Amino acid sequence: MKKPCYIGGKWVQSAEHVPLFSPYSGEEIALISSADEGMVDLAITAAQAASPIMRKMPAYRRATILENLSLLLNERMEEAARIIALEAGKPIKTARGEIIRTIQTYKFAAEEAKRIHGETIPMDAAIGGEGRLAYTVREPLGVIGAITPFNFPFNLVAHKVGPALAAGNTIVLKPASQTPLSALFLAEIAEQAGVPPGALNVVTGSGAVVGDRLVRDPRVKAITFTGSPAVGIDIRNRAGLKRVTLELGSNSAVIVDRDVELDEVIPRCIFGAFAYSGQVCISVQRIYVVRERYDEFVRRFVMETGKLRGGDSLDEEADYSAMIHPAETKRALSWIQEAVEQGAKVACGGELEGRILQPTVMTDVPADAKVSCQEVFGPVVLIHPIDSVEQGIAFVNDSRYGLQAGVYTNHLATAMQAAEDLQVGGVLINDIPTFRVDHMPYGGVKESGMGREGVKYAVEELSEMKLVVMKR
Ligand code: SIN
Repeated sequence: MKKPCYIGGKWVQSAEHVPLFSPYSGEEIALISSADEGMVDLAITAAQAASPIMRKMPAYRRATILENLSLLLNERMEEAARIIALEAGKPIKTARGEIIRTIQTYKFAAEEAKRIHGETIPMDAAIGGEGRLAYTVREPLGVIGAITPFNFPFNLVAHKVGPALAAGNTIVLKPASQTPLSALFLAEIAEQAGVPPGALNVVTGSGAVVGDRLVRDPRVKAITFTGSPAVGIDIRNRAGLKRVTLELGSNSAVIVDRDVELDEVIPRCIFGAFAYSGQVCISVQRIYVVRERYDEFVRRFVMETGKLRGGDSLDEEADYSAMIHPAETKRALSWIQEAVEQGAKVACGGELEGRILQPTVMTDVPADAKVSCQEVFGPVVLIHPIDSVEQGIAFVNDSRYGLQAGVYTNHLATAMQAAEDLQVGGVLINDIPTFRVDHMPYGGVKESGMGREGVKYAVEELSEMKLVVMKR
């Protein structure tokens, strides 16, 4: 079935279509429009034409539209979850969890739309400022270009569409090539929710055509991107004076101190490492365990990992399924192999079950092996002994990335030390770095990105402060 783009409130077929394949079965599931520059231009023109409507729309109307989106998604939750399972290979029970989060993200956006405000400035604090009343307001930027990844095709789209509309902007959304159906489903419900024609445009196609045009076009005032550091840095370098928010990768780590309860810690770390086969920016990739608990931790971690079940992403029992693309599976396997050649050991996994890469636990991994120092974005975790939490912090910080990190400890002083010294955007005490709820500030330092998401913070990124000074 040929899928069109959604531009200016109309469904528009492109001249060319590309097949979309299910990651699990490898079967063709749809033919997706591959937009050319002309279609991107049309979408930006539509977004610009809708800009005055969104800019003037009162906050309560923007809030109602976003609330409607949340309600409509709630009504069609199962259909939406099945789309994720089919096109992204996300196990259906995990996909349902993503939809529940997405419903909340639009709800948060509806609430934020009603509390976008500025502050008054005490002008008479400066000599010469007397007799003036000054305040700030936040205004929409205009047309936003949103480029989204495959791993949360509903919720990471919501983290861009929700705040952009809440702030009174219009959007051209380029979803990941592997997950266009989720974005097209959103366009369908957006129409019913009352999003004005042109306020949300979904343009499917390649990054080289659609993404590139969004970055280059001067009518697009901001780019909000989630994806790889290489692409993010390239966008930053070419964006000129556009606002840019980048949510990039990481090789997230967790530190386990001596006297913590492993019955709680191990299942959480297994969830963090293998949920959606590790294709999560804050997936647990490195676990640093104090030496006295190391052997016990590895033994129990491997035993519990063995209980996970692989299978069809639409199967209710599946805990993990195929990675997004066979080329990604091949890359992850080659990184495992390379680490083994460097002296690492595979404690479990490391093999294919059909198209599925098994959850893989590695030990004795050198710090310069790719599975340690680069982002695997696959079901691979390494466990490494440490002499102290301080040494663990040094290992965590020895990374080009800095998104989130977790520390399990029963000691307040250790927790406070870790919170102070870890070079990341978010520190989770007594939890894994994979923890995220959708209103918290979320973003990284170093090559993990710039700017913050989490609805309120994304609204700030996607709006401009204006100062008004009135003289008596
Ligand atoms: C991400 O992969 O960056 C998003 C993680 C999440 O929202 O849980």
